[in-house]
Amino acid sequence: MKRRLLCVLVTVCLLMFSLQVVVLAADAPAKLPNVVILATGGTIAGSGATTTTTVGYTAATMPVDNLINGVPELKNVANVTGEQISQIASENMTNKVWLKLAKRVSELLASDNVDGIVITHGTDTIEETAYFLNLVVKSDKPVVVVGAMRPPTAMSADGAMNLYNSVILAGSKEAVGKGVLVCMNDVINGARDVTKTNTALLDTFRAPELGYLGYMQDSKPHFYKESTRRHTTNSEFDVTNMTELPRVDIVYGYENNTRVGLDAFVAAGAKGIVHAGVGDGSLFTEVKEGLIDAQKKGVVIVRSSRVGNGIIARNGEANDDQLHFVASDTLNAQKARILLMLALTKTSDPTEIQRMFWEY
Ligand code: DGL
Repeated sequence: MKRRLLCVLVTVCLLMFSLQVVVLAADAPAKLPNVVILATGGTIAGSGATTTTTVGYTAATMPVDNLINGVPELKNVANVTGEQISQIASENMTNKVWLKLAKRVSELLASDNVDGIVITHGTDTIEETAYFLNLVVKSDKPVVVVGAMRPPTAMSADGAMNLYNSVILAGSKEAVGKGVLVCMNDVINGARDVTKTNTALLDTFRAPELGYLGYMQDSKPHFYKESTRRHTTNSEFDVTNMTELPRVDIVYGYENNTRVGLDAFVAAGAKGIVHAGVGDGSLFTEVKEGLIDAQKKGVVIVRSSRVGNGIIARNGEANDDQLHFVASDTLNAQKARILLMLALTKTSDPTEIQRMFWEY
């Protein structure tokens, strides 16, 4: 009898202790994600002479610690640390910075102590850096690229909220596996389709016809779709041990055009040429002759369009099969250039490269 009583007593004590642990665990604050901010420059780190200066300011003046300290709310949503990768206006972005950034992103994301990365960046070429990383980062963890259209010194500056939302997004489970994202002005864009659509407005980043992937609202991400194209861990491209990227130039289509610029790029050693054609990637006769000559010298030719939306149809405005040209699908010229640069690290076969443009 005594033994049975003792067993009951021990069981009750164990149950009470377990209950206490459960209650304590439920009350414990949720573990915050570890997010690293890699700063490259841009307006988000810029400064203007007055609170009304929204043009004619200086980009890339503020170090990453100032960006973090300027948004104290960050510590409520993540454990944030920062590194300065570069301090440039993004019109000056280079392959050298890209390769340094890609290497650092991959190193950090390989650590169990890092849950996501935010990259602060000038808005002029944010879409290019985001797409490049979308094709080379070997992790499912969130990578979010963010900028600002007004410097922190301006009234109603957008950088602080953009950074706050981007850190939340980079630390979120919802963003895992979505590819590289661009998060500004409360919207979430995918790296493949986002482009800058206005020189100055806060809502400049859109995917004009293919649309946003979701919104940021009330400190939470809300996704409604995701990219159907290959990216990050499903990408065949790897720049880990690369110190340079193949040269690819863009020639622009317009009325009364000439092949002079194209010939100069080929003479300078371009391995690939993207043609931003009129309409559905149409070619001015003299330029078409220049592209045919370039292709015969081994330069890979991609037909894109200056229009910005829609599919550039293969064998539509040119006999791509016969000329061994590649059609860029829906990638605009600046995005097609990036995919072609990476494609050329694998092959110069136009058929194989066309496969890549259908898949990425
Ligand atoms: N110079 C531009 C750049 O760094 C400023 C624009 C911006 O960052 O919003 O991209």
